[in-house]
Amino acid sequence: MHTTRKIKEDLIYIGGSDRRLSRFENLFPIPRGVSYNSYVLLDEKTVLFDTADEAVGRLFFENLEYALDGRGLDYLVIHHMEPDHCVLLGEVLRRWPEVTLVGSAKALSMIQQFFAGAAPERTLAVSEGDKLSTGRHTLHFMMAPMVHWPEVMVTYDETDKVLFSADAFGTFGALSGNIFADEFDFDGAWMDDTRRYYANICGKYGAQVQVLLKKMAAVDVETVCPLHGPIWRDGMGLLLEKYQMWSACQPEEQSVLIVYGTMYGNTENAAAVLAARLADRGVRNIKLYDVSETDVSELVSESFRCSHLVLAAPTYNGGLHPKMEAFLNDLKALNLQNRTVALLENGTWAPAAARLMGAILGAMKNITVLENTVTFKSALAEGQAASMDMLADVISAQLACAAG
Ligand code: FEO
Repeated sequence: MHTTRKIKEDLIYIGGSDRRLSRFENLFPIPRGVSYNSYVLLDEKTVLFDTADEAVGRLFFENLEYALDGRGLDYLVIHHMEPDHCVLLGEVLRRWPEVTLVGSAKALSMIQQFFAGAAPERTLAVSEGDKLSTGRHTLHFMMAPMVHWPEVMVTYDETDKVLFSADAFGTFGALSGNIFADEFDFDGAWMDDTRRYYANICGKYGAQVQVLLKKMAAVDVETVCPLHGPIWRDGMGLLLEKYQMWSACQPEEQSVLIVYGTMYGNTENAAAVLAARLADRGVRNIKLYDVSETDVSELVSESFRCSHLVLAAPTYNGGLHPKMEAFLNDLKALNLQNRTVALLENGTWAPAAARLMGAILGAMKNITVLENTVTFKSALAEGQAASMDMLADVISAQLACAAG
C-alpha cells in the first residue's frame, strides 16, 4: 500500500524512512532513523526527482507506480549521486528504459562508476541556469558543487516556486506520516539532529553552502524539498538563520562546551571543577561530555553551536588521549573556525596533552587558545584553585562581554 503525500496539486512525495539502520554512512548513529526523500511531478511530462536508499526500495517503487498511475516516466532528475539517493537508478532504468536522465555532467559521468555497464538510452547534461519545460512547469537548474559532493545540483521549479535542495536543509530523523516541518515542533524536536547532520555532512563546505544560499536568495522560494527530513512550505526563517551562521562558521550561541577525556576520573574532576566555577559566575547551559562516551558526531555538532570550547585531556603514551585526538582531527577536517578554546591537561610524569592539542588547534583557522592553560599532575591539587578561578573568570567575562 502506498504512503505518498501531496505537496502541490501535481507534486507528490514518494520517499520512505529507515528506522533499522544504526549508522548513516556507516558512521553516524541515527537513533531516530532517517528519511530518503523522493518526489514525482505530474506535468505534461512526468518527472522523478532522485531515487532513494535500497532500504526503502520496495516502498519507493510502490509509491512511484501509484503516483504515475500507469503513465510512463519521462525524466529522472539526479541531484546527487551518493548511493542513499541513486542506488535504485538501475532498477528505474530497467522498468522505464525510455526515461531521460537529467543531471550535471559530473553526475552523469558517475553513473558508470556506480553502475558498471549501465547504458541509459537518454541523458541530458545540464549546467548552471539551464531550463527545462515539462509543460506547465519550468525547471531551472543551479549547480551546488560540494553540497555535499562535486556533482550536486539543485532544481528550482519556477512555476510553483519549489526548490529541490538536495542534501541542503536535510536532517537525520525518520518521518512519521507528517512530512512538513509545520506539522510538528521543528525547533524543539528536530533542530539538534539538523545541526548534527549539517555539521558532519556539509560542515566542511561552508563556503559552498554560502554560494547556494545566495542563489536561493535571488529567486522566490516558497517550498523547499530536501533529500532528507521535513519539507518546508513556510516558516523557514529560523533554519535559514542557522544555515547562515553554520556556513559562515560563526557560533550559534555564546556558550561553553566542555569535552574531557579521562582514564580514572581525575581529568573528569578537573572539567567538573571548572564547570562549577563557570556556573558560579552565572554561565548558563554549560554542556559537559566525556569524549569516550559521546559519539564524535554529537561533539562536532555541539562545537558548531558553542562559542567557547574547553578541552581537558590526559597525556597517553607520550601523546594525546586517542579519543580527544580523533575528535580534534575531526573538527580540523570539518574546518571549524572562529572559536575560543581553553585547555586543561593531565600528565603524571610528562604532561604533553596541551601542547599536542594546541598543535592541532594551531593548524585551524581563527581559533584562539586562551593562555590560561591549567596543567596538573595526576589530579588537580588544592593549590591550583586559583588557576581554575582565573580561567573561569576569563571565560565568563568574555561571555558577559559578548552578551552586552
Ligand atoms: Fe543524502 Fe550526500 O547524501
